[in-house]
Amino acid sequence: MFAVYVHAALLGGSFLVLFPLGVVILRLTSVRMHQIVQLVTLTLCLIGLIFAVIMSARSALFASFNWAHQLMGLVAVLALALQACLGYINHRAFTLTGKPTPARWLHLGLGRILLPFGMLTGAV
Ligand code: HEM
Ligand code: HEM
Repeated sequence: MFAVYVHAALLGGSFLVLFPLGVVILRLTSVRMHQIVQLVTLTLCLIGLIFAVIMSARSALFASFNWAHQLMGLVAVLALALQACLGYINHRAFTLTGKPTPARWLHLGLGRILLPFGMLTGAV
């Protein structure tokens, strides 16, 4: 039971509160602060994922990993790693050349899809 609470708090809290806060922080402060908040939150998600996988593997009900919640959650957390790379690639290129790259549009587009998708995962 403890593991469910930790998992739900880490992943639910990240998608519902911390990632959206990181986006507000980007607009109110700096890219650097956005980067820090999103990377710390990504780390919390990875810890939440470890709890999820251990908890699922130990449960007769969830060990087959075929529940939509589990599959959507795996996709969401893997896509987050890609999202962080895109944010970094775009920011580095923009700092060097002053021009946005395709990674900018991918980071903006994926981010706006991924956050509602993660919230939805917590509800299925
Ligand atoms: C975006 C990612 C995720 C979010 C926001 C999330 C959120 C939640 C929340 C809020 C709960 C508690 C409510 C409930 O029982 O439905 C929960 C339970 C659970 N989650 Fe996740 N989760 C995510 C990803 C995952 C992944 C990747 C797995 C497994 C690989 C997983 C496995 C489970 C399991 C086994 C439970 C316990 C369900 C029960 O005992 O009824 N979750 N999750
Ligand atoms: C998984 C972690 C991350 C998530 C979920 C995320 C999410 C987002 C979202 C949703 C936006 C769009 C904001 C809007 O709608 O106005 C955005 C913009 C941005 N992000 Fe991230 N981000 C992450 C990591 C990073 C990292 C590591 C960097 C590297 C510095 C970064 C740099 C940026 C920049 C520069 C923008 C503004 C792009 C522009 O408007 O030109 N992000 N991010």
